[in-house]
Amino acid sequence: MYETIDLDRIDSIQTPPEEEPARQYYFLARCRKYVENESRRMGRALTARVVTFGCQMNARDSEKLSGILKEAGFQTADDEEADFVIYNTCTVRDNANQRVYGRLGHLNSLKKKNPRMKIALCGCMMQEPSVIEKIRKSYSFVDLIFGTHNIYKFAELLSAMFEQEGMVLDIWKDTDRIVEDLPASRKYPFKSGINIMFGCNNFCSYCIVPYVRGRERSRAPRDILREITSLVSEGVVEVMLLGQNVNSYGKNAEFSMTFAQLLEEVEQIEGLKRIRFMTSHPKDLSDDLIQVMKKSTKICRHLHLPLQSGSTRILEAMNRKYTREQYLRLADKIRREIPDISLTTDIIVGFPGEEPRDVDETIDVIQKVGFDNAFTFLYSRRTGTPAAAMANQVMPEVAKEGFDRLLKVVQDTARQNILRLKGQVLDALTEEVNEQDEHFLTGRLSNNTIVHFRGDKSLVGKIVKVHLKECHGFYYVGELLSE
Ligand code: SAH
Ligand code: SF4
Ligand code: F3S
Repeated sequence: MYETIDLDRIDSIQTPPEEEPARQYYFLARCRKYVENESRRMGRALTARVVTFGCQMNARDSEKLSGILKEAGFQTADDEEADFVIYNTCTVRDNANQRVYGRLGHLNSLKKKNPRMKIALCGCMMQEPSVIEKIRKSYSFVDLIFGTHNIYKFAELLSAMFEQEGMVLDIWKDTDRIVEDLPASRKYPFKSGINIMFGCNNFCSYCIVPYVRGRERSRAPRDILREITSLVSEGVVEVMLLGQNVNSYGKNAEFSMTFAQLLEEVEQIEGLKRIRFMTSHPKDLSDDLIQVMKKSTKICRHLHLPLQSGSTRILEAMNRKYTREQYLRLADKIRREIPDISLTTDIIVGFPGEEPRDVDETIDVIQKVGFDNAFTFLYSRRTGTPAAAMANQVMPEVAKEGFDRLLKVVQDTARQNILRLKGQVLDALTEEVNEQDEHFLTGRLSNNTIVHFRGDKSLVGKIVKVHLKECHGFYYVGELLSE
C-alpha cells in the first residue's frame, strides 16, 4: 500500500520505472524536491488550491489530486491566491463550461501578480478537442492540461510542468487502465467516496459523459474492499460507492460479481456504519439489489433513481431504455419492499421534441412517485451527442416555461413528503458545525435529509439520535437525544 512507501528514499536521479504505481511514486519524489527547493528560495511554504466542478466522481478525483499535492509538500490554500491552482472541470451542461472560462480570466490576473504561479486544468471538459483549441488560443497562460483517463499520472505531469518551459498537454482518447494505490486526501475524515467503476456505456442521447469518461470499467472487488477496510481503520464510518451506473457493476469484467453481491461484501466490513451509492440507472436495478437493501442494516434509506422524463416518447428519444410505466412499477416495488426509503431523481426539461403534454406526464410521475427531491435541469445541447443533431430543438422560452412549472411541483411534493418525518427520532451522522451558528451542528439522516441541532463540535463524525421537531421546507431542526 501507498502508506508504506518512503518517498525520500526514492532515487529520483535514476531513470523512472516503467510499472505503475512505482512510476508515480518516483515522480512524486521529484516533485517533492522541486517544492522543497522553491520553498527555500521563496522563504515560505508553497500553497496549492484544487477547485472542483461537477459530480461526486469529480469530487473524489479531486481528493486524489489533493493527495498528490500534499505528498509533494504543498500546503492547502483557502482561495485561489496560491502558487498552484488546478480546476477539475465538468462539461455535462454548458453553464459548467462557462463558469470555468469566467474564472480563468480571474486566474490570469492573479498570475500577473505572482508570475511563478502555475495553473492547471483537468477533468471532463478537457476531453473535448474544441475546448483544448480554445484554451490554447485564448488562455495560453495555462501551464498544464490533462484529461480524465490519465489523472493517475498527475505526479508525472506535475513534475514535467516544473521541469519544462511552456504548456504541458496530455490528453488520452480512452483507457482500459485502473491504477491502484495512489494517495488521496479526504475532505471529511469520517466519510469518503469510493470509485467502484469508471466510464459509462449507456449513451443516453443528450449526454456527453460516455464521450469524456470513456468505456465502462469495474474495479476489482478485492481492491474496493481493501480500500474501504483501510479507510475504516482511519476513522471513516460512511462510504459512498461511486459510478455513473452502479447497477451494471461487474458486467464485462474478469471477475464475477454483481452490484448487489458487492454491497453484501461491503456490509461485512466491521466498523463501517453507513453505505451509500450513486447513481442507479432504472433499467438495470435488480430485485436482488432491492432485497439486499431491505435486509441491510448499513445501506442508507435513500435511492437516487434518475427519471429524466416521465414521457415514454421522450424517454425513447433519450435512449433511456425504460418506459414511464416501467419506472412507476419499479418505484412502487421499491416503496413496497422498503417503506421508509427516500427516492430522489434527476429530470431534464426541454429535450428536443418535448411538448407541454410531455412535461405534464413528467409532473404526473413526480406526483405519483412522491420524490423527496428532484434535481431539475434545462436541457443543454452538447456537441457530438445524438440529441444535439436532432432537428426539433425546443425554444428556450418554451423550455423555461416547462421548467418553472415542473420546479414548483417538485418543491411542493418534496415539502409535503419531508413532513412525514416530523416527530420521529432518527440517527444522524454529524457532518459539521453549522455555518450560521456555531452552537448548532449539521447532520444527515440515513435518508439523506439534513437536520440542524444544538450540540458540541466534538460530535462531528459521530452518529447521534435526533428528535425531528420543526420542518423548514427541505431540512429539519431537531433536538439531540443521545450519542
Ligand atoms: N449517470 C447518471 C447521471 C450523470 S449526469 C445517470 O445516468 O443518472 C447527472 C445528470 O445531469 C443527469 O441525470 C441528467 O439529468 C443531467 N444531464 C446530463 N446531460 C445533460 C444535458 N445535456 N442537459 C441537461 N442535463 C443533463
Ligand atoms: Fe450520461 Fe446516461 Fe451514462 Fe448517466 S447513464 S452518465 S445520463 S449516458
Ligand atoms: Fe460533469 Fe464529468 Fe461528472 S461531465 S457530471 S464531472 S462525469
